[in-house]
Amino acid sequence: MYNRRKFLKTTSTVAGLVAIAPRTFSKSFLNKNNTGFPIVISTWDFGVAANKEAWKILGTGGRALDAVEAGARIPEADLNNHSVGKAGYPDRDGHVTLDACIMDEFGNCGGVAGMEYIAHPISVARLVMEKTPHVLLVGEGATQFAVEQGFKKETLLTDESKKAWEKWLVTAKYSPVINFENKQSKPGDKYNHDTIGMLAIDAKGNISGACTTSGMAFKLHGRVGDSPIIGAGLYVDNEVGGATSTGVGEEVIRNVGSFLVVELMRQGYSPDAACKEAVNRIIKKKPETAKQIQVGFLAINKKGEYGSYAIQPGFSFAVCNQEKQDLLVSGKSYY
Ligand code: GLY
Repeated sequence: MYNRRKFLKTTSTVAGLVAIAPRTFSKSFLNKNNTGFPIVISTWDFGVAANKEAWKILGTGGRALDAVEAGARIPEADLNNHSVGKAGYPDRDGHVTLDACIMDEFGNCGGVAGMEYIAHPISVARLVMEKTPHVLLVGEGATQFAVEQGFKKETLLTDESKKAWEKWLVTAKYSPVINFENKQSKPGDKYNHDTIGMLAIDAKGNISGACTTSGMAFKLHGRVGDSPIIGAGLYVDNEVGGATSTGVGEEVIRNVGSFLVVELMRQGYSPDAACKEAVNRIIKKKPETAKQIQVGFLAINKKGEYGSYAIQPGFSFAVCNQEKQDLLVSGKSYY
């Protein structure tokens, strides 16, 4: 049985360690109907353009699921973005392999992992959800399914990404760079990875989420991160809220991060306090690793209140609602 006393003891110990200071935004962002939605939030500064696309659907009464899919396609198609979709940095062997997942208000979900040659994994993920009895397709099977569904096979490795990979091959050293996502990368920069995670609530109050990435640059061929894994990179429960993650996926998977954030919100945590607790779990388990990496969570609750937390400073996210279409907010961080 759930032991509230024990729960309070655990959380107050953690609070003692890191001084949880819950922060919500509900007042500032209530709209005319006194609700916090429609709203869409996305990780990193490339979330601004993604939100803008999603808002075309949300702002005209459309469904959150359609909004997050449309939004996620923007960074997937952006050739200057080397961590999502086409032009993503390849793996160690020169293959661009993409990961994505999507989840709707009914708890339906779909994903693809390690998929090559298809520029919009988020749309393939949606079709896995809608047209198959499965949740996740990987590798060649995912590409085959996409082609059967009418997607065009294309080369995802651009000249710029190829140059960066060739430069990396000279030393072939793997050293993740924290917040690589915030920088405009050039061939020859140090590389990491990252992800766009999007969460939206539509005018009916229904929640959906999407998450898409090319994963860790120069990863081992076959490596899959958190982004296509429901519960790790993304989770939505229409009664409670949604969460998504960015950063080193291995640590997110180990802690089933996005599911944890949603379950904490179910227990009464605000979105940012829930994100903070999930970050603390990662830090507590591997304090030395945590110093070297970035992991950030972004969450929204059923009321449209949102928040984030990250291991390192520098994590940002974009918010779009009736009042603001391009708000970029700095996520709070542990250190
Ligand atoms: N968070 C993206 C990845 O680890 O692949």
